[in-house]
Amino acid sequence: MAKVVILSGAGISAESGISTFRDSDGLWEEYDIKDICTVGCLETNREQTIEFYDRRRLDLSEKEPNKAHKVLANLKNKYKNEIAIITQNIDNLFEKAGIPHEDVIHLHGYLTNAECESCNDVFDIGYKKIEESFNGKCPTCHSQKVRPYVVMFGEMAPLYENLYEEITNCELLVIIGTSGNVIPVDTFTSYVDRSILNNLEKSDAIFDELYSKVIYKKATEAIDEISSDIEMVLKE
Ligand code: APR
Ligand code: ZN
Repeated sequence: MAKVVILSGAGISAESGISTFRDSDGLWEEYDIKDICTVGCLETNREQTIEFYDRRRLDLSEKEPNKAHKVLANLKNKYKNEIAIITQNIDNLFEKAGIPHEDVIHLHGYLTNAECESCNDVFDIGYKKIEESFNGKCPTCHSQKVRPYVVMFGEMAPLYENLYEEITNCELLVIIGTSGNVIPVDTFTSYVDRSILNNLEKSDAIFDELYSKVIYKKATEAIDEISSDIEMVLKE
């Protein structure tokens, strides 16, 4: 179990040009979230749902990690077993910053993977559209029922078990760039000795007095202070 857990949300990728959910613009404007992000949307609205994730996947091909991803990647690679990198994000910016994919826990899926609904195989499709990769079929069982490897609202998120296990055993919890609207981050503060909250601004879903340290700044401006706090805990 890691001594330090870093849990991030859309805010850590905002400065890389990937819009967050709550202040979404551009791509999100063209869709109604409930039609493309909620359990059942692949049955009732398959074409538009697949199109939405195909467009986000292509968009991701041009996005680069920012300083926050890079600083955390250096820390993770330096203290491999003592830091857990857990994210709600489906982008690959931690991986582009140098963390091996198997060392990042993506709670809500991973945009450059696809999943077969027949045999549940999960496979890499890069930045391609689903229909363009493996001719839109599962490479294992050749079923055509291939979906984005993304957890929709209301679907099971099996990796939450890993999150709870890591948090109940760590000393320092660092929260970066999440409004707490989906994962109730406040509940974790009672399990840890110390906690750092970094967001751009207050969130109605977060009671920030529960945190040992609160930094309302851009992640790229807060990350150096966060990084030295993490190293201090690891050197104790
Ligand atoms: N630096 C730090 N924090 C930032 C920055 C930034 N540059 N920009 C925005 N933020 C913060 C905002 O203050 C906000 O609290 O990031 C948070 C973004 O919140 P949301 O848009 O709600 O994103 P998130 O909390 O990750 O959403 C969780 O909801 O839509 C679902 O599954 C989806 O994983 C997602 C989940
Ligand atoms: Zn299959």
